[in-house]
Amino acid sequence: MKTFILVLAMTVLPGLALAAAPGVPLDTMEPDHTNKASLQRGAAMFTNYCMGCHSLEYARYQRIANDLGIPEDMYVENLIFTGAKIGELIKIGMDKQQAASWFGNAPPDLTLESRLRGENWIYSYLRGFYKDDSRPLGVNNVVFENVGMPHVLVEMQGLCAVKPTIGQQSSVDPLSGNVKNAGVCSEWASEGTMTAQEFDTAMYDLTNFLSYMGDPVKVERERLGMFVLIFIAIFFVFAYLLNREFWKDVH
Ligand code: HEC
Repeated sequence: MKTFILVLAMTVLPGLALAAAPGVPLDTMEPDHTNKASLQRGAAMFTNYCMGCHSLEYARYQRIANDLGIPEDMYVENLIFTGAKIGELIKIGMDKQQAASWFGNAPPDLTLESRLRGENWIYSYLRGFYKDDSRPLGVNNVVFENVGMPHVLVEMQGLCAVKPTIGQQSSVDPLSGNVKNAGVCSEWASEGTMTAQEFDTAMYDLTNFLSYMGDPVKVERERLGMFVLIFIAIFFVFAYLLNREFWKDVH
């Protein structure tokens, strides 16, 4: 009994610790790895706006192209700017030490970021930048205080003059893609090219892509799981009949 309680405690407690981890309130998003259009938009956005600083060095271009249904020649033409071959890992040229001296911290690799922080965190973080003149780059983030990353999407989103109200209002409906209660920012220092709703949808796609990146076999695993369950169900009938046959004469 003692061992049982100990095992139970050891199974449950780490889960509780994880659940309690995020200290700031977050907006929620429901990743959907079957939504290829969303993942493709996310991949394009990541390549164009993030890969200058962040690598995905545990993944290969080819894997993304195949998983997301992007023809390989089209991928090479439009989404590889470094002259890398499609079978290569997604590394970047930025020197980590130099980057650390520019930004305070080197931009980390983001292949497993969704496993580390969770999708809600990334989705909130990307929408959490605001103007703060006391910081070296003039911006801060409500989810990641005193972050070293510049607000690279400022042209799209605009620059919020006050702290955005993350974790209090907006969320994306995964089925329709509609944003409920859009507008985390009540006052803008500068306007962006996108409306709040368009920007939230773009950040949904980008987060969805990073979520896929952290668990690229999810769809395949779930598909295979279905077949395994169907096999077990059918196998059960035969096992049951065989069992009945064996025990028929034993009485
Ligand atoms: C100009 C370089 C630069 C670009 C471009 C850039 N980042 Fe960053 N990013 C950084 C730096 C530097 C950090 C580390 C900040 C720190 O630790 O203070 C960072 C941190 C992050 C983190 C948090 C990592 C962690 O868990 O500590 C995420 C998530 C992230 N970036 C996502 C993105 C996404 C998505 C894009 C594209 C829209 C992007 N970044 C574009 C420089 C950049």
